[in-house]
Amino acid sequence: MRRIGVIGAGTMGSGIAYLAALQGFEVVQYDAMPQAVEKAHQAAASRLQKSVAGGKMSADQADAALKRLIEAHDWQQFSDVEAVIEAVVEVIDVKEQVFRQLDEVLPESALLATNTSSLSITEIAKATRRPQQVLGMHFFNPAPVMKLVEIVRGEETSDAAVGQAQELAKELGKETIVVQKDTPGFVVNRVLMPLFIEAMRMLEEGVASAEDIDKGVRLGLNHPMGPLTLADFTGLDIDLNVMDYMFDEFHDDRFAAPLVLRRLVRAGHLGKKTGRGFYRY
Ligand SMILES: NC(=O)c1ccc[n+]([C@@H]2O[C@H](COP(=O)([O-])OP(=O)(O)OC[C@H]3O[C@@H](n4cnc5c(N)ncnc54)[C@H](O)[C@@H]3O)[C@@H](O)[C@H]2O)c1
Repeated sequence: MRRIGVIGAGTMGSGIAYLAALQGFEVVQYDAMPQAVEKAHQAAASRLQKSVAGGKMSADQADAALKRLIEAHDWQQFSDVEAVIEAVVEVIDVKEQVFRQLDEVLPESALLATNTSSLSITEIAKATRRPQQVLGMHFFNPAPVMKLVEIVRGEETSDAAVGQAQELAKELGKETIVVQKDTPGFVVNRVLMPLFIEAMRMLEEGVASAEDIDKGVRLGLNHPMGPLTLADFTGLDIDLNVMDYMFDEFHDDRFAAPLVLRRLVRAGHLGKKTGRGFYRY
């Protein structure tokens, strides 16, 4: 059986592990907080039960998928995986520590992927002795549903590693794009953040109501969701972090976070719950 590793069992790690188990991979999963893996596996069990109840799979198939989710208690459990996808917190020191540890135990041929949304792949790769096998595999939330994986090259990533990641993403049922240069925001967030920012600036200027800005983009550009609603679902604190990071890196006003966003985050309105945070602005 094909075997991969997932590090982290938060929003993204649990989604990626669930998806991989569904697609027939054995998934060894580790989180610094042991309860996190248990919680992720319980959530997977209840999703699988719902699929059985809805006639989407048999009880035997659900059982088999659940058995393929394995909690790691020891780094040696990663010694025979073909690839690892890291989805721990977005903090470079923590990611480097995880990659150093993985470098000690992974087989020579293994692919090392990070799900970072913004950090430099090249920097993370430097924590290992095999930067040619390190790249970004940027999944979108919710990972089992969203079709795209951005494959991001670090400066030393080999063509073979890119090919391996494309193949893995395909086997997980995803479409891929290859980001040839390790630049902040990759492709999708580089397009998305200025869209969010412009929508928020128009709200601040009173150009239109939040409802109408979203409706305009939905119906005029055929987006399934307006930018203010999407920004709220993504998490306003996360949006602000990404904008600040991109602004620091590019020194470009296109990425300057609007005051309305900073004020909402400071006041504790982090979004994620209703998708409608800006509608009360
Ligand atoms: N949430 C999103 O919409 C989204 C989308 C794409 C990419 N990402 C990226 O995916 C990564 C994870 O994001 P998330 O939203 O799942 O975060 P999260 O906070 O939900 O989960 C992070 C998990 O990492 C664990 N962790 C922390 N330090 C660890 C360590 N040293 N070893 C092992 N586990 C450790 C935490 O206990 C936690 O369970 C981040 O890099 C983020 O930028 C997030």
